[in-house]
Amino acid sequence: MTLLIAIAAPAPTPDGARLYANSCASCHAPEKLGTKDGPSLRGIGLARVDFYLITGRMPAAVPWLQVGHRERRTGQQLSLGEIRALENYLAPTVAGGPDIPVVFAGHDLERGRRLYAANCEHCHAATGEGGALGQLTWAPSLRHVTIDVVADAIRAGPGEMPRFGEQQFAQDDLNDVAAYVANLPDESRRDVPPFRSTGPVPEGAAGYLAVIVLVAFVFTFWRVDTPALEREEAVRRDEGGGVEGM
Ligand code: HEC
Ligand code: HEC
Repeated sequence: MTLLIAIAAPAPTPDGARLYANSCASCHAPEKLGTKDGPSLRGIGLARVDFYLITGRMPAAVPWLQVGHRERRTGQQLSLGEIRALENYLAPTVAGGPDIPVVFAGHDLERGRRLYAANCEHCHAATGEGGALGQLTWAPSLRHVTIDVVADAIRAGPGEMPRFGEQQFAQDDLNDVAAYVANLPDESRRDVPPFRSTGPVPEGAAGYLAVIVLVAFVFTFWRVDTPALEREEAVRRDEGGGVEGM
């Protein structure tokens, strides 16, 4: 009975201050001025907070290590409710930097492509698959990102990425380039071989493995299926008039 009531009751609204104390303060400090494990959050703007939270980059597991976009389903990310609560809580601290941008799906993808080529391609590659920038830094693939993530990234300029403010990208530019990027073909639909060339040894090993698996497969099923098949064929042959006379 108590269980039923618990399920029926609305989920409690996440408490931003508590979330901050539990998941962020160890690195960003209770006063948000930073520690050796994390930078100050003062005046950085909500776009930056939103970017780091909705892409699952924060809360970080290892400080100062660039991580990729972590999908919500891996469970490493805060829920949307928790993110909004943290943003409300942090809004006064981060005020002064770029706000979370409003973005409309752009209308002119061709214009978006040209803006992308001029401003983004040298880091993220023409195909959007990204590339290395330094030894431990890279421009990530853009083939799975949502339009909100693109808009946040443009206005916030995370890590090594430059910030594009209203002077560089007016609202129209933001709409078009964000729509273009959000519409890049998905990686999973890409027409490439299942594994990348990493030199002859791993490929050879994979080849051997494939052969072993194939042999094991054939063995298992041959032995189970053949007798039945043979019996059927024998019956058919018998009916056909005993062609297989020795
Ligand atoms: C293990 C330490 C650690 C924890 C925990 C952590 N952060 Fe961070 N955070 C960092 C570091 C280090 C950076 C520097 C940038 C990077 O690594 O990408 C950072 C960067 C950020 C930035 C961007 C700051 C800037 O100016 O670029 C924001 C916003 C942020 N963190 C918010 C949060 C929030 C909110 C939480 C809690 C949900 C959190 N972080 C938890 C270590 C941490
Ligand atoms: C100087 C190189 C550079 C340029 C130019 C650049 N980016 Fe980035 N971009 C980066 C890096 C580096 C990151 C990762 C930052 C991090 O995680 O700390 C990034 C991250 C992103 C992300 C987040 C991807 C994810 O998986 O979460 C998006 C979206 C993005 N960039 C879009 C753009 C767009 C659109 C442009 C052009 C308007 C652009 N970038 C220009 C280097 C660049």
